[in-house]
Amino acid sequence: MTLASWNRLAETAVLLDGFHALKHAVRFGAEVPVAVALDREAALALADELAPDVRDALDALLTEVPEPTYRSLVPRPHPTAVAALAVRPSRAAGLGKLAHTPRTAPVVVLDNPRNLGNAGAVIRLAAGFGVTGVVTTGTLDPWHPTVVRGGAGLHFATVVERLTVPELPPGPLFALDPEGDDIRGVKLPDDAVLAFGSERSGLSAELRARTDHLLSLPMRPQVSSYNLATSVAMTLYHWSAGSPSAP
Ligand SMILES: C[S@@+](CC[C@H](N)C(=O)[O-])C[C@H]1O[C@@H](n2cnc3c(N)ncnc32)[C@H](O)[C@@H]1O
Repeated sequence: MTLASWNRLAETAVLLDGFHALKHAVRFGAEVPVAVALDREAALALADELAPDVRDALDALLTEVPEPTYRSLVPRPHPTAVAALAVRPSRAAGLGKLAHTPRTAPVVVLDNPRNLGNAGAVIRLAAGFGVTGVVTTGTLDPWHPTVVRGGAGLHFATVVERLTVPELPPGPLFALDPEGDDIRGVKLPDDAVLAFGSERSGLSAELRARTDHLLSLPMRPQVSSYNLATSVAMTLYHWSAGSPSAP
């Protein structure tokens, strides 16, 4: 693997930084044209221990590279010293899955999120709960390498797209806000679109205008709000507790 060919691929591909990101991407069907490790045997030993289901695939993929090469490929090397590039799923395929009805699991919308770590944590949650997809509005790139690292490569286990509010998928829109009705009195349907506001300013006026139901998470009065990813976790847990199709 030369720096030039890695860089050429990296212009359009998704950086998988670390063993867990590569493991998840392969497990959920990502196309991975190149994967490198500082110590190939150590990486395969990790696969034997943590991911025997993808061990053979990793054996076929991984190329050992010397440390200077590895450091030139990955700006902030992961402790597992494994990195790869994956082909980003097509936008058309993602939009098709988001629009497909009847939907058996919600879509999560992050309305203009600002924090890359929060976006990654939400994608990891979405994968764990088997939701249909995560949509962001605004300027944050949900495929940014820091988001993919935070999501542990689980972008390939759900749909991840950036859309405008008018482009949001169909379905009843439940927006989460501390001023809403208590979520504990509401059963969230499987075709729900669950929207969450930005860390700084909450839900935008445009998203509020599209909202069918405003819901709140239980919180004592002196506390202003929860963290964004934590709010998504509680809401998805509430959905899963009332849905026979949730994992
Ligand atoms: C950090 S909060 C935003 C705080 C922001 N300063 C505001 O004015 O709303 C990020 C998002 O998490 C969700 N959230 C946080 N606490 C919540 C609660 N108690 N009930 C419902 N949603 C909540 C909302 O969607 C909120 O927009």
